[in-house]
Amino acid sequence: MAISKALADELEKRRAVALEGGGKSKVEARHAKGRLTARERLDALFSQGTFQEFGLHAQHKTRHFGMEKKSIPTDAVITGTGFVDGRPVAAFSQDFDVAGGSLGEIHSKKICHTLDHAVKAGIPVIGFNDSGGARIQEGVGALSAYGQVFYRNVQLSGVVPQISVIAGPCAGGAAYSPALTDFLIMTREHAQMFICGPEVIRAVTGQVTTMEEIGSAQAHASVSGNIHFIAENDAHAVAIVHRLLSFLPSNNMMDPPHRIEPDLSIADDPVIDDLVPEDSKTPFDCRRVIERLADDGDFLEVMESFAANIVIGFGRIGGMVVGFVSNQPTVKAGTLDIDASDKAARFVRFCNVFNIPLVTLVDVPGFLPGVNEERRGIIRHGAKMLFAYASATVPKITVIMRKAYGGAYLAMCSQDMGADRVLAWPSAEIAVMGADGAVNILYRKELAETEDKQAKAKELADDYRAEFASPYLSAGMLFVADVIQPRETRSAIALTLRGLMSKRETRPPKKHGNIPL
Ligand code: HXC
Repeated sequence: MAISKALADELEKRRAVALEGGGKSKVEARHAKGRLTARERLDALFSQGTFQEFGLHAQHKTRHFGMEKKSIPTDAVITGTGFVDGRPVAAFSQDFDVAGGSLGEIHSKKICHTLDHAVKAGIPVIGFNDSGGARIQEGVGALSAYGQVFYRNVQLSGVVPQISVIAGPCAGGAAYSPALTDFLIMTREHAQMFICGPEVIRAVTGQVTTMEEIGSAQAHASVSGNIHFIAENDAHAVAIVHRLLSFLPSNNMMDPPHRIEPDLSIADDPVIDDLVPEDSKTPFDCRRVIERLADDGDFLEVMESFAANIVIGFGRIGGMVVGFVSNQPTVKAGTLDIDASDKAARFVRFCNVFNIPLVTLVDVPGFLPGVNEERRGIIRHGAKMLFAYASATVPKITVIMRKAYGGAYLAMCSQDMGADRVLAWPSAEIAVMGADGAVNILYRKELAETEDKQAKAKELADDYRAEFASPYLSAGMLFVADVIQPRETRSAIALTLRGLMSKRETRPPKKHGNIPL
């Protein structure tokens, strides 16, 4: 028995209407701005021919204020699954060309189905956000619909990776769904994200501002720290998603995509010997060290423009995916401040929950001194780093390159914070506090009576460094497993990682710890 022509035609007609989305003129206007449609974004994400849509025929069964006159193809969001580099991935893509991509009950049901499917199947979710927010005509039902999405974002957190692309407006409470996900990528020109826009801010507070200042990709990447990557356009955003996925496992029960060769042979790299200046006060770019440590120099930096005094990102060493955390001596002398602590702590927790080993590179003179830092709560924020490292059970390897002073030494994953192996370079200075500070406290009175105060202080500081901050002192007390030449670092880390592949560390059962937020 064959399907009648009439039935087959009706299906094709319905498909054509849904696939047309907002219609030809809206698509042309979008292309003229160099932007992709919601469907084209998914086409770019998934390998050709692998997308399976859920809810192409979605539409309202009930009538809402003003909506009986309007047809909303796909209910303004395209959802489904496909494959990226041979791995299944779930995605939704809001269609601004249809009812402004606004979110109503059916729209939300489609996104929720995608999230539920992702958690069942154990696969990552990618969300393209491009929406005018809650569908005004659906009233409070649209608010509840947002709540359903937020609830699921939280249930999925730590189970499967969630990545948000902000590809258009993302306003008001709607911004909280992306904010609950692991990584946010925002397109530079056509995306805005904010809770209260410039007009509302002016009306309520009298403050005059611009969208550029509060809601642009640039503002979020460098000032608010709400996003992780800026993309030049939609295609670039998808390329960043692909790159991120190449380092992430599909779920928390799997290992990340290591590329293990059976034989591990890594030669010394003499180039690293020359990267660190002899004078401990001369800054050097820690990214040059990371690039030498990572296989093929391949390093995906995360949150590049925010709290640049700490550098975080993904790479591989000897084939194993790792998360790098490094102080950056070229910015604020590599000190830890509130923003750097927040940035690193969240990254450490992401790596831990998705089984990604941590490699920590240390050159830290301490926490940033300052009235603002103290009053804004550096104690609470710095504690996040201690909390994150101490609760991480993935393999943790720490390399002390130069300074490792005071509480910041502990916050950068010392052995006491559970590091599996701490290595130090001969240039390492490990001590309870910096040499100048220690001399000032211990010898203030003597120095006041000395004629050439500066020369004496320098002499005492040099003595302190040689005697109290020597890496051999820490190695002698077993705080450091070994002192190695910089050139030996890559092979030392690779060997340690390989030896820790089956690391299991159990902790007392509990609901969750109470990280100082
Ligand atoms: C229904 C909407 C809509 C919405 C836009 N549209 N937003 N429809 N509900 N929230 C429709 C418009 O009516 C229009 O339909 C089409 O989408 C395109 O919108 P334009 O305004 O023409 O586009 P543009 O000039 O590019 O402006 C984009 C915009 C603006 C800045 C996003 O649309 C806007 O300000 N929208 C409202 C944003 C907002 O306040 N949302 C908050 C809702 S409350 P036609 O038929 O003319 O093409 C909320 C709370 C969520 O979101 C809380 C969650 C916890």
